[in-house]
Amino acid sequence: MADKGSPIGVFDSGIGGLTVVREIMRQLPDEKIIYFGDTARVPYGNKSQETVTRYSEQIVRFLEANQVKAIVVACNTASAVALDELEKKSDIPMIGVVKPGAKVAADTTRNGKIGIIGTEVTVSSGIYSRYITKLNHKATVIGKACPLFVPLVEEGLLHDAVTDEIARRYLSELIVTGIDTLILGCTHYPLIRSTVGKIMGEKVTLVNPAYETAMELKELLVRSRLLYSRNETESKLPNETLHANEMALEEDRYRFYVSDGAEKFKKFAASIIKYGFLSAKIVNIEEY
Ligand code: DGL
Repeated sequence: MADKGSPIGVFDSGIGGLTVVREIMRQLPDEKIIYFGDTARVPYGNKSQETVTRYSEQIVRFLEANQVKAIVVACNTASAVALDELEKKSDIPMIGVVKPGAKVAADTTRNGKIGIIGTEVTVSSGIYSRYITKLNHKATVIGKACPLFVPLVEEGLLHDAVTDEIARRYLSELIVTGIDTLILGCTHYPLIRSTVGKIMGEKVTLVNPAYETAMELKELLVRSRLLYSRNETESKLPNETLHANEMALEEDRYRFYVSDGAEKFKKFAASIIKYGFLSAKIVNIEEY
């Protein structure tokens, strides 16, 4: 049975979800995290809803087997098309990244014109638009799929003329619409935030759903009485147990699993998460 001290499960189609992990680490530093990146089957963003749901269900079963107390679907594509199905089949409290991002955008816009960039699946699902217009009836949401951003980020071309040129082409369509808020609706996009910001101009506020997701996760844990606080637990332990317990905790606080390419993942992860030791283990996710 999972309890307060159990880890939070976070998953993504690959490496992009690490931008969400980074935010959870910042906002909930006492929590343990188990991350799964489906590096063998990435991208999800151009696959059918059925396939994305099947992959996500396997990952949820893997996380359940690891006794997680809550699950963060740190992939916009999976949050857009699979989250409802996942929630029906699991008792573990779960959140995705779409609702939190939609909420900030609806609160942020001044002229009611909001852009969303993401994968083809996320944009064509229309989910951001549905959430946003529920919160802000006057809002108009304009979506633009930017499929080349994911491989560019994965190739490490974060500050590169090629990325600039492609971003200009994709974003020119959005600039003419007069949006004042733009949701970075894909886990990889916060990593090219400066390029997007430069092209969109100062008047457009960029929304990174990762930040709001970590805040909502905290609220969910509080509501479910699952928020872990080291101080609270420590104060109940005798001193010698405290030391041993703390040491063990540090060692397995953050665990990373992937379905392929552990070395490449490790290198990329180290550039996003500036936390001492990082290792990644391979899991045969098809077994779940
Ligand atoms: N993680 C995906 C997302 O946020 C992007 C990569 C993919 O297409 O799988 O939508």
